[in-house]
Amino acid sequence: MDVLLLGASGRIGHRIADELLSRGHTVTGVSRSGHVDGIDDPDFETVAIDATNEVDVADLAEGHDAVASALGPGEDEDVDVLVEMSEAVVAGMRDAGVDRLVWTGGAGGLYVGPDTRLVETEDFPEDWVPIARAAIDAYDVISAADDLEWTYVAPAALIEPGERTGEYRTAEGELVADDDGESYISMEDFAVAFVDELESGDHVHTYLGTGY
Ligand SMILES: NC(=O)c1ccc[n+]([C@@H]2O[C@H](COP(=O)([O-])OP(=O)(O)OC[C@H]3O[C@@H](n4cnc5c(N)ncnc54)[C@H](OP(=O)(O)O)[C@@H]3O)[C@@H](O)[C@H]2O)c1
Repeated sequence: MDVLLLGASGRIGHRIADELLSRGHTVTGVSRSGHVDGIDDPDFETVAIDATNEVDVADLAEGHDAVASALGPGEDEDVDVLVEMSEAVVAGMRDAGVDRLVWTGGAGGLYVGPDTRLVETEDFPEDWVPIARAAIDAYDVISAADDLEWTYVAPAALIEPGERTGEYRTAEGELVADDDGESYISMEDFAVAFVDELESGDHVHTYLGTGY
């Protein structure tokens, strides 16, 4: 598959690039700088664009089989830029005629009970509420795009650099947690789950939780 990967220089995006390349896919990796350190592969090229610019997204997306996103706001940026990026990506894909989108989302919008999302729980860290809310707003933009074959793949509540075990579980719309209530996934296994979904298309039009 020929994949346009937005956010390829990021912590999660870099691991998704590694996973895609290890499976023989061709990857165009995007960041604002156009630099992605540590990947030396003939099937990988890097391009600098601003993912809030739908014209640039459209120009670059054209001819790819799918768009993958691991976009996130820069450290000092307003978190709502994530919503701008989701709008530009959806519009750019429509212009380019590319249908398949797999988006790295947030766990905050996943349900932990019948009427309760993770972000609404008492223990949810106050500092994370704005990014969690922005990620839900981005979900609203993406999920309204019925004409695209989108999947919004969310990490567990906690995601960190770790090991690639190849093991994970998924749940549609719900937080994945273990028997002790811990919700965790390594970035490497999140990349496995993400690329599995990109390849299989098993969960089109789904907010998909991942974890152990
Ligand atoms: N438990 C959870 O729910 C959870 C936990 C962690 C992360 N996440 C989500 O996962 C996503 C990725 O997280 P991460 O930690 O990997 O983020 P990150 O390391 O900050 O990477 C963000 C990527 O987006 C790129 N980017 C930012 N603005 C851009 C723009 N305007 N145009 C083009 N590229 C742009 C960055 O590259 P440049 O800066 O070089 O442009 C970088 O490649 C985020 O949306 C984050 O909210 C969720």
